[in-house]
Amino acid sequence: MTVDSMVAEPPLRALRRRLAPGIVEMQRKGETARATSVLHEPAAFFFDPARFEREYQALFRQMPVVACLSSQLADVGSFRTFDDAGVPLLLSRGRDGKVRAFLNVCAHRGARVVREPCGKAARFTCRFHGWTYDSAGKVIGLPEENEFCGELGGNKRLVECPAEERHGLVFVVPTPGGALDLDAHLGELDGDLAAIGLESAEVIHADLLSVTGNWKYGADTFFETYHLNSLHYETFKGLFSPTCVFDTFGPHHRFTFAPQMLPEWVNMPPEQWQVDLIPLQYFLFPNTIISVGTTGKTGLTVNIHQIFPQAPDHFTSRLSFCAVGGVQSADHRAEIDRAYQTARQALVNEDYSVTGESHVGLPALPQDMTLPIGQQEIGVQNFHNNVRRLTGE
Ligand code: FES
Ligand SMILES: [Fe+2]
Repeated sequence: MTVDSMVAEPPLRALRRRLAPGIVEMQRKGETARATSVLHEPAAFFFDPARFEREYQALFRQMPVVACLSSQLADVGSFRTFDDAGVPLLLSRGRDGKVRAFLNVCAHRGARVVREPCGKAARFTCRFHGWTYDSAGKVIGLPEENEFCGELGGNKRLVECPAEERHGLVFVVPTPGGALDLDAHLGELDGDLAAIGLESAEVIHADLLSVTGNWKYGADTFFETYHLNSLHYETFKGLFSPTCVFDTFGPHHRFTFAPQMLPEWVNMPPEQWQVDLIPLQYFLFPNTIISVGTTGKTGLTVNIHQIFPQAPDHFTSRLSFCAVGGVQSADHRAEIDRAYQTARQALVNEDYSVTGESHVGLPALPQDMTLPIGQQEIGVQNFHNNVRRLTGE
């Protein structure tokens, strides 16, 4: 490879090229990513209501969560409501191009200000008494203002929550006055997110599933390949290999999965590896899984799964299947359609079906019984340990 071609290489390909030797080495040794020991998890980890409340407050009200893609708030005046984190939020792109988040709660007497899921508007009018706010949250219309005798002070604007865009994702901390430090939050993962290029992601399919079970149990189904050959045997027959490399970035993690032709790569010089075919999966703690598909002939497909706890035994699961750089061709579109149908069906009938059953079963187990999380379930172990650490245990 010449220096020129290295300079011209797209960032995602450069990233995959950097990760390729690791997965080839795993294949050569006939190994996969493993934890150093077995984690014995108390079953109550998945149903204890006090633990649930601690998790919700510490992880979903104080940490940055992804509220949407930048492309879902593309223009000046674009807005979206976001209720998944348990607080009614309004996201809006102001005239200065900046994305802001507000409590979607009128500063007069608390009515919901914006009731549409998304759209474009220069101002938002509360239906109760007609107070009107601009896209920066400031009151610009207030019927009978004189009746308030000049005593409105801080009530003349919507309450703001921290929000920031980074690499095509909109992060919010769903608590007014909360702290948002994305550099600290993302750490080394920042470079990988930049390489994926979600700024140009177009959402092709979106869905919100309501699921019975604990949010961590639902998330866990994304963090190990152990169940592929059993639960998903029919759905993904032969499509995935359990060989993977696992890397952590603070509480976040990355899986480098095996491309289908990995066994052949072992005996090929690195220049011949088609690194674009390496699937990657990122976990943005606490709840966002970003699956970067192969960049085949058709185009790049990225699937985003988000899990939002609603109660110890209930969570919502948001799916966004995206074409990065837009849909490239009819084949690309067909590939995204297929991926969405298959993934949704696997989630509903397989992963989340087990999640619902477990939630009935786990509380029935003897109190001193623990659940063994194996060495090959390294992503699950890592997630649980981070949940414990970040909820102050
Ligand atoms: S509650 Fe919104 S204007 Fe009164
Ligand atoms: Fe699964």
